[in-house]
Formats: sequence, structure tokens, C-alpha cells
Amino acid sequence: MSLLDSTHQTVSHPERIAVIGAGYVGIPTAVMLAHFGHSVVIAERDEFRRESIRNGRSPILEDGLEDVLAAVVQSGQLEVTADAVQAVAGAKFVFLCVATPMDDDGRADLSFIDAVAQQIAHALRDDAIVVNKSTVPVGTMERVRSLINRPGVRVVSNPEFLREGTALGDSLKPDRIVVGAEDRDAAKSVAQLFASTGAPIVVTDATTSELIKYASNAFLATKLSFINTMSRLCDQLGADVDDLVRGMGSDHRIGFPFLNPGPGWGGSCLPKDTSALVAIAADAGLSLDVVRAAIESNAAQQRHIVTQVAAMVGGSLSGKRVAVLGLTFKANTGDRRDSPALQVAELLLAAGAHLCSFDPTVATDDASGDVANLGVCATLEEAVAGADVTVVLTEWAMFRSLEWSRLVPTMAQPCIYDARSVVDLESAHAAGATVRSIGRS
Ligand SMILES: NC(=O)c1ccc[n+]([C@@H]2O[C@H](COP(=O)([O-])OP(=O)(O)OC[C@H]3O[C@@H](n4cnc5c(N)ncnc54)[C@H](O)[C@@H]3O)[C@@H](O)[C@H]2O)c1
Repeated sequence: MSLLDSTHQTVSHPERIAVIGAGYVGIPTAVMLAHFGHSVVIAERDEFRRESIRNGRSPILEDGLEDVLAAVVQSGQLEVTADAVQAVAGAKFVFLCVATPMDDDGRADLSFIDAVAQQIAHALRDDAIVVNKSTVPVGTMERVRSLINRPGVRVVSNPEFLREGTALGDSLKPDRIVVGAEDRDAAKSVAQLFASTGAPIVVTDATTSELIKYASNAFLATKLSFINTMSRLCDQLGADVDDLVRGMGSDHRIGFPFLNPGPGWGGSCLPKDTSALVAIAADAGLSLDVVRAAIESNAAQQRHIVTQVAAMVGGSLSGKRVAVLGLTFKANTGDRRDSPALQVAELLLAAGAHLCSFDPTVATDDASGDVANLGVCATLEEAVAGADVTVVLTEWAMFRSLEWSRLVPTMAQPCIYDARSVVDLESAHAAGATVRSIGRS
């Protein structure tokens, strides 16, 4: 089904817009704004990302993104440059979409934001509006404003809520748009850029806007940690987590999203954003105990999985061959930043296991920078052959329809640990495999 829909009207007053940073947020944002009819220039330092875009190809794996990207590049609505200064020249709106990773003490590292603000300050139009889409701590709008230090230039907070894997769809049809600024006219003109999405718009002050993003991610992480803790309790009590989820999620006050037990939450956002929120609260004199507990519980989930995998092969993983299926932090993305699959892989290695791993987005020579000794295989069959236990850590669709009758006979022991609840139990059991997963006795 196409992501584009006839309700997306082309704007009557196209603006010139700069987007700084062609990543998981910058590209969908730029493509969406160009698709709405604005004239967009995206600035990116990375040559590979730039060249991909210039050639109408998406440098990141995102459903439906490449077709729309190719169309807006071809029509000239979207241009790409290496130079942020060049991108902002003449632009009314400048979106900051650079990374804000976790620094050594758990806070958001604002060095990319600071660098861009300093770099573009002199080149901005006198009436430019700088829009901060990166996830940033409370006070960053003010920080950017003072770094730019131009009286007519206004700075607005506009946090992004898209999910990797469905980024363009989420940009075109967001649940809500949040815009925060002391200057409500500036906030409203940013909100106007998203009018075609038809999404409800929350206009607020910058502090609240910046906090909404962290509070939302911390809530989602806490919900996941809650159900993961329940899955461990199900193991202790002999209860069934699938029935528990059905019983809980049908309550409309609870709901089903983010109620699937798994190997813990990860990715490029939840770990750093929960940590940053704890730091923001601590600086404000508040101990955010509920979020701290969610973070600690997440690590416990991964240790629990490794204990259970070990139990399947007699209690010790020392010298055991483990096939790891899935390395990305979730399905439908190539992103392995803070992937729980990698964290579980590290624990398996620490317990003495030898790993053979497979992920549809990871080539055999592509795992550098991840965990050492992942043993990335070119094919799933190669990873599984000779394994004492196969551990499924990412919910890729292809893992749902595996022919276990073909795979299990190649394993050293018929043991499958399914941390994502995607294994076809009928097929695996028919092949003689023992399948275990969290919270399912
Ligand atoms: N990834 C997500 O799912 C997601 C969702 C919502 C919000 N966010 C937030 O959005 C922000 C960006 O995240 P991301 O995942 O897109 O990061 P990313 O690392 O994928 O992309 C950032 C890009 O900015 C480029 N860059 C940095 N400085 C630059 C400069 N001076 N000039 C030109 N290019 C520059 C980098 O080369 C990189 O390609 C972060 O604050 C993140 O927390 C991310």
C-alpha cells in the first residue's frame, strides 16, 4: 500500500527549507517537506549518505522512503549539499536533525547541535526560524538561541516521534505534532508546515516541548520494562505471558502496543533518552525512581535470557555453539545502535559461547564496530548448522516462516530459544525441536 495519500495537499506557499543532518530523522523530514511542495536542501557531512540521496537512493533502510525520495530529488524539490552554511542561505526554516548521543555521564551530548548552531549563525536569513528536531534536554532551545545570537532569528523546539522502520509513514501521518517556543507566532508558523499531515498540534513553551519527547520515550521504555518483568514473573510462577498480555491489553486504558515481551529495549533513542531524563530530573533535584527501575530491569531481562539459554544446554554455555538470529535493534531497520540483540550476544560470549550470527541486513564484513566475535555468517543456514542452540533476537518476518524441518536436523542439538515469540511452534515441534521463550512455560 502506498504511503502517499490524496489528503496530502501541495502547499500554496512553498518555503525554502534547510535540513541539517541526513539521518533517520533528517531524511524522512526533508522528503516529507519536499513532497508537500517546499523547496528543501539537506546538508550532510557523510559522503556516502550524500551520494545516495543525490542518486535518488535512500542510505537507510526505511519502508517506502526510496520511491518518494527519488521522486523529490528528480523533481528538484530536494537538493543535497555537504555544507550547512550553503544549505541555510535563503532558507526561512532550518531544521536541526543531528545526533544527540549519550555522553560519558549519561547526559545528552550536544556537541553536534552546538557545532551546527555556531557554523550557521552568520549565514542565516535575518528572519530565519531554526527548528530543533533533535532530541535535546530542557534549555537547549535557549542554548541554541544564545549560540546563534541574532536578534531576528527565532528558535523553536519541534521534537520528533517517528519510529525507525516506518519513518516516512510516521512523518506523513504522525499521531501529533509538538511545537514549543516562547514566540508563539514562530511556533505557529512551524506548525503550519505540518498542516498537510492533519495531525493534532500541541503548541506549548519550549521547556514543555523538550520534556514531552523525553517523557514519551521514558513512558514507552517503562511500559516495555514492566511487561518484560511480568514475563520473568510468569517464568517463576508457571504462568503464560501471551494470555497475560491478552488479558491486560484488552483493557483500553492499557492497550496492546509496547506490551510484547522481548530481549529488552534498545536502539538509538530509548537508552540514551531515559538516561538523559534521569540526569535532567537529578539536576532539578528529583530522583526519577520509576525510570531508573525501568533501566535496571532492562539489563535484568537480558541476563535472564542468557540464563535460560544456558539452561537449555545443560546449564553452561562454555564451549557451546550458539546461532544468533537477528542483530538489529528491531525488524525493518538496519540500525544496530544499542541493539539488545548485541547486548545479549555479548553476554553469551562472556558466558563462553561461540557465536554464529545472521541478520538480513548485516554482511559478513559489516560487523566491525559491533561486538567482537559475532561470527557473522552469509546465510541463516550457515549460522544454524552445528548449533547447540539457536537464539532468535530480532523479529524479522523471515524468521516467522523458517522451515525448521530442514534446519533442525543440521543443528548439534534441537534447541531453539525464541526471545521475540516469532518461531512457528508447530513447524519447530514437528521437526523435533524444544522451543523456549520468556514467560511461556
Ligand atoms: N532515530 C530515530 O528513530 C529518532 C526518532 C526520533 C528522534 N530522534 C532524534 O533525532 C536526532 C537525530 O537522530 P538520527 O537517528 O537521525 O541520527 P543520525 O546519526 O542517523 O543522523 C544525524 C546525521 O547528521 C549528520 N551531521 C552531523 N553534524 C552535521 C553537520 N554539521 N552538517 C551536516 N551534517 C551533520 C551526521 O553525519 C549524520 O548523518 C537525535 O537527537 C535523535 O535522538 C531519532
